Amino acid sequence: MNKEPKQLTYQKILQPIEKPLQNVEDILLKKLTTDIHLLTEVSQYILSAGGKRFRPALLLLAAGSMGRIDHKACVTAAVVEYIHTATLLHDDVVDNADFRRSKKAARSIWGNEASVLVGDYLFTISFQLLSEFEDPKLIAELSHATTLMAKGEIIQLERENDNTTEEEYLKIIHYKTASLIGTATKLGGMIAEASTDQQNALYDCGINIGMAFQMIDDALDYDIKNANTGKDKGTDLKERKITLPLSHLLKNASEKDKNSVTEILNMDVITDDHVKEVCHLMGRYNSINYVLERARTFSEKAKSNIASFPDTDYKSGICNLADFVISRKK
Ligand code: IPE
Ligand code: IPE
Ligand code: MG
Ligand code: MG
Repeated sequence: MNKEPKQLTYQKILQPIEKPLQNVEDILLKKLTTDIHLLTEVSQYILSAGGKRFRPALLLLAAGSMGRIDHKACVTAAVVEYIHTATLLHDDVVDNADFRRSKKAARSIWGNEASVLVGDYLFTISFQLLSEFEDPKLIAELSHATTLMAKGEIIQLERENDNTTEEEYLKIIHYKTASLIGTATKLGGMIAEASTDQQNALYDCGINIGMAFQMIDDALDYDIKNANTGKDKGTDLKERKITLPLSHLLKNASEKDKNSVTEILNMDVITDDHVKEVCHLMGRYNSINYVLERARTFSEKAKSNIASFPDTDYKSGICNLADFVISRKK
């Protein structure tokens, strides 16, 4: 992960959209005040816990690259973050996760029921907020993305315990993660009235960034010494989810090493020591480097998708985010 020369800090990358991102923050918290104590408490807890706001940032940069960041772009960026947050609340229940955004997961404090229901609420207010614009295309795009996300999570659940080929893995991450990131990027272009070709280029760019984003997320899950992610480590192995690092290991390990991994996957309980052992084997077979290289290919593709766009700070911002994704530690 250290190969990239002089990486800009995340904060620096977001500088061209500093003001509209602040608007997004205000919208995010303002729209959440309700008279239901539990709802306000849980949603404010997760939304103020310090997410990267990666999807809103891409939406705003895409809108900026097409010449206009207006109120509609800011509200839509907030909506995209609500949807993302809803999926995190649900995901932590599905994955039995105890930490999120460097804090206890909402489900560890208020329970799975509250986490699921508040997630549902965030989903529904997202579409309610969006409907105020009376723009059916916007709703169609976003509901397409959320449908794919749900499908992706379900395919992944169906594949649990089974070996997953790279092709199956790519489909899962395209659906569960890249679809929202691609759509956020495209929405920025749509709202700024970009041409159809430009909107499609932004979508492809966002999808490729999203693919790289999830690949690195899956590599970071095995980066057991790195505490920056604010999430538990080794969760994919413990949940018997065969993501790309493990799929690569199973494909390339000697018969003996492969048997050790399979034995671990068949244990009743997978412990931190098992995770360590698998990490060790991943080192031997260069599995993490392989994932980094694959992610790098998607990130490069993302930049080439928008190569013909006029050179602006916003376009550079998108390219910088594509680079950031590869080197990110959190
Ligand atoms: C986490 O997304 C879920 C994945 C798709 C890997 P982020 O890494 O964007 O989470 P936050 O919003 O910064 O917490
Ligand atoms: C990504 O899945 C979350 C969604 C797209 C819903 P993961 O389960 O891999 O994400 P983290 O690692 O918990 O954030
Ligand atoms: Mg998870
Ligand atoms: Mg998950």
